[in-house]
Formats: sequence, structure tokens, C-alpha cells
Amino acid sequence: MPAPTPLPALILGAGAAGLMCAAHAGPGAVVIDHMDRPGEKIRISGGGRCNFTNMYAGPQNFLSANPHFAKSALSRYTQWDFVYLMGRHGVTWHEKTLGQLFCDEKSERVIRLLLDEVAAAQAEVWLKTEVREIRHADGRFVVDLIRDGQPLTVTTRALVVASGGKSIPKIGATGLGYRIAEQFGHALTDTRPGLVPLTFGDSFSDLAGVACPARLSCNGTSFDEALLFTHRGLSGPAILQISNFWHEGEDVSVRLCPDLDFLSSLKEERQRAGRRDLETVLAGLLPKRLAAQVVRDSGLKGRLADLSDAALAPLLDRLTDWHLRPTGTEGYRKAEVTLGGVDTAGLSSRSMESRSVPGLHFIGEVVDVTGWLGGYNFQWAWSSGWAAGTAI
Ligand code: FDA
Repeated sequence: MPAPTPLPALILGAGAAGLMCAAHAGPGAVVIDHMDRPGEKIRISGGGRCNFTNMYAGPQNFLSANPHFAKSALSRYTQWDFVYLMGRHGVTWHEKTLGQLFCDEKSERVIRLLLDEVAAAQAEVWLKTEVREIRHADGRFVVDLIRDGQPLTVTTRALVVASGGKSIPKIGATGLGYRIAEQFGHALTDTRPGLVPLTFGDSFSDLAGVACPARLSCNGTSFDEALLFTHRGLSGPAILQISNFWHEGEDVSVRLCPDLDFLSSLKEERQRAGRRDLETVLAGLLPKRLAAQVVRDSGLKGRLADLSDAALAPLLDRLTDWHLRPTGTEGYRKAEVTLGGVDTAGLSSRSMESRSVPGLHFIGEVVDVTGWLGGYNFQWAWSSGWAAGTAI
């Protein structure tokens, strides 16, 4: 049988990073995916409106064992490059908050944009295609695939692993990228769920549904965003953000309503209407159920006029430095990203190419680079996908 014609590049995973890479890898490149639709995570992202980047994205918004690794790709393909690409395709957007840019239309519009770019670059997308085995000899990768149920072997000098992390297996996540990294002798850093709700047993079930602005702190990092109480524990943007910095057995500190000076507000109320009950007064500053819980936990009761500043101390403590110890996270089923992954020490930060296996690249979430909540993870997918695609 004649040897199959080598592909200029084979990209494993038609998600955000893989499609971006295919759009720059040149004619004849092929991006495969085992799902029957490309870009499933883009589709469900940002509540269906894809938070595709962040105006303020920079290396400071990413976690990695090597905080310098992401700098090169992020500075060569920036958020403004993607914004320009959106403009070129007539896709409009808006800033929601904190520099987070969302599509005006549904997230599908971003998938269409990427597929149009892939088609314009004369690259191909093969769906319902699985990887069976990868061999490597004479500088070439020989990859056994199952495409639409039929076996098919392809060869290539450039193999790009863009198969994402472990989060949300229901929509396609597998451990393929980590297995390939191990096969080729690449080290992996520890992986764990990121941007994920934290669990607290049933401690907050009475407060389920209550939301409140808060400052969440852990390991020297703080985020001011919304906090949401759920039946399982805590969620909302503030918790998702801090979950990236939390490790099992550690506390997180919560300051409710960080823009509010509780002591001054309570003193004013004491002057104005000291005969009112403490819980009623606090319910004017916090959601009612949360006010009741905080007052109960502080052990205080009675009229505000009867409580001196010193007597209010336990309440103020609970409002401004509430130490909570999560029992765990809601896991990969709910995590938006996977922290950790392919160790960047084995990769070129310029091309995402393996330092030990020429032609092998790792891009996107499979790499040990994880962004904060707010469009940063897609920016990493665009930047790293572009860096590998243009280097092939
Ligand atoms: P991605 O997961 O996108 O793609 C990997 C592809 O590889 C998938 O298509 C998968 O099917 C395929 N694949 C996996 N295993 C395979 C195998 N064995 N064979 C063949 N194909 C295989 N980020 C952000 O910046 N803004 C946002 O608004 C959101 N919102 C959001 C919501 C939710 C619910 C989640 C779960 C995640 C987000 N994210 C996000 C994170 C963002 O979706 C994520 O970081 C990127 O999609 C990562 O891009 P990748 O291309 O690396 O992986």
C-alpha cells in the first residue's frame, strides 16, 4: 500500500485553540475532533454569549508554575488582535464588566467566525474522528484514526495537541492530551478543577439563592465580585475566581459588601433610630436572610441603642473577616477550567513546540496556563493557538 501523503499539520481538538491554530497552520492542515460539532465549550461559554476576551488581559491574569511562560504568546497575539478579527467578520460585542467582552449575538457566531477562518486558510475540520494510536519515527508522526467509524492512518511532521482539559466530560473533555504528553516523556504538573463552586456540606442551605457583593481572599489574592449561596455551598464570580487560588484544607476569608463601612453605618443608625432591632437594621444593609444568619452567628440580639461599639465587635468580625473552610469543590463536572497540565518547562513559549520532540506542540487548556474568570482563558486559547499555527 502506498504511504499516505503527509499532512502539513494535524491538530487534535477542534476547540478554541485548535480552530485558531488551524486558521494559521496553512493549506492542507487538518483539525480533528471526536464530537459531532466543533467548539462545544465556545457554544456554552459566557452564558451563551461567549466572553471571548478581556480588555485588560496580561500575564498577571494567569496561573502557571512558570508565570513568565504565557508572556510571549499573549504579547504577540493580543486581545486587540481578536477584537480586530471580530470586526473583520462584522461580529459586534459589548463590555459587560471589568473589561470582559461578550458577543452581542449568540456564542455560535464566534464558532462560525473561526470555521470561516479555517476554510479561508484551506484547512479542514474532520469531526467524529478519534485517535487510536500515535507512533513517531524519522521525524514523522504516524497517527491511526477512526473517522466516521472507518480506520484511517495519516502522517504529519507537525502534531498539535489542542484537546483541552478535564472539565465537563459531558461535552467532550477526555484525558487525551495528558496521555500524549506522557507518551512523549513530557512532565505534567498536578491538575485540579478551577473556576469552580466550593462546597460546604449543607451549612448554607438556608441561604440558598441569596447573592451579595463580597471580597474573597485566599493565599494573598483577593477578588471583589458577587457571592452566591447555594444548596451545596458557595458560588458566583467571586468564588469561581478565588477557587483557582484555594487548596484543600485552607480557609477563604469573606468580607461582605466591601464598599460599605459597617461600623459607620451602624453608628449612624444608632443615632437616628437606636430603638430598632439589630437584625432589622442590618437587613437594610444586607439581604434579609443573610442579615438574620450573621446576627444569629454573632450571638448578639436586641436594640441597637443597647449595643456599644465594643459589643458590636463579633458582628463586625463576621461581616468583614468571615473565615470559611470549604469541604471541597464541585469537581470537573462544574469546573470551567483545569488548573495545571503539560509542564511549560518542556515547551517553547514562542511556538508551543516540545523542546524534546520536534514537531510536537501543545496549546490551550491542556498546558499548565490557566486564566482568571473573565475571558482570559479564551485569550490564552487564541494566543497559544496562533503562536503554534504561525510557527508550523
Ligand atoms: P476546548 O475544551 O475548547 O477544546 C478541546 C477540544 O478537544 C474539544 O472540542 C474536545 O471535544 C476535543 N477532544 C477532547 N478529547 C478528544 C479526543 N480524545 N479525541 C478528539 N478530540 C478530543 N473561558 C473564557 O475565556 N470565557 C468564557 O466565557 C468561558 N466560559 C466557560 C463556560 C463553561 C461552562 C466552561 C466549561 C468553560 C468556559 N470557559 C470560558 C473556559 C474555556 O471554554 C476554555 O478555557 C477553552 O475552551 C479552552 O480551549 P481549548 O481549545 O484548549 O479546549
